[in-house]
Amino acid sequence: METDLKSITDNILGNLRVVEREEPAEHLEPWSWRENGHEGGRGIGRRLAEEIQPGRLRMTPALRRLRAALSDGRTPVVLAGDVGLGKSVAAARAVADAPDAAASGQHARFVSADDVCDWIHRNPRDLGPREWTAKQLSECEFLAIDEMGREYLDAHGRHLHALTRIIERRHEAGLPTVLTTNMDQSRFEQQYGGRVVDRIIGSGAWIQLTGKSMRREKK
Ligand SMILES: Nc1ncnc2c1ncn2[C@@H]1O[C@H](COP(=O)(O)OP(=O)(O)OP(=O)(O)O)[C@@H](O)[C@H]1O
Ligand SMILES: [Mg+2]
Repeated sequence: METDLKSITDNILGNLRVVEREEPAEHLEPWSWRENGHEGGRGIGRRLAEEIQPGRLRMTPALRRLRAALSDGRTPVVLAGDVGLGKSVAAARAVADAPDAAASGQHARFVSADDVCDWIHRNPRDLGPREWTAKQLSECEFLAIDEMGREYLDAHGRHLHALTRIIERRHEAGLPTVLTTNMDQSRFEQQYGGRVVDRIIGSGAWIQLTGKSMRREKK
């Protein structure tokens, strides 16, 4: 009986230790969402900036697997899966953690695929300081493109071309890129083509996430 009790308590303690290890990601630094006095530094909006603070952030599979892939030097890395699995939060945290660019001043950037498609339509002179050209997006130190597959597709394929060019140019330059998507791999390949997927599989990573939406769990 005594041994049973001991093994039960050991078990509980063991589980508690596991939970402790996986829970708050406290070794992460707080991140200020103000950059040079401007709101939304690095393209991370206020809501996401609050979500990526150490007190809020848990070491979810999205966060853990993305960090592992990036520290292995993998790029481009795709976080794929259904809604609410922490893809945007993990990608935003990676942007926040990326080092500052030395000379170019083009630090890490968090953008949505939709933003990119909106910006490439406009004359570069009409872009605001937080709206970047395809060239800047291709050359910045670190780039996360959120919500690939949610962009509006124009009849001429200009949007798809711009997105794939940015990914390919960054790959050629050895610059790290993170993409998030709700698409599965075959749908993604249908949309963006074999050239992009070949690079992801070859030198990057396709991280397929599963599970329930954390947005629903919160309720
Ligand atoms: N690492 C984390 N720690 C704590 N909470 C998290 C974490 N990641 C996500 N969440 C919670 O889950 C919610 C959804 O996360 P997120 O927006 O990253 O999902 P997503 O995978 O990008 O979903 P979608 O495909 O709908 O864009 C967040 O608003 C946050 O409340
Ligand atoms: Mg998201």
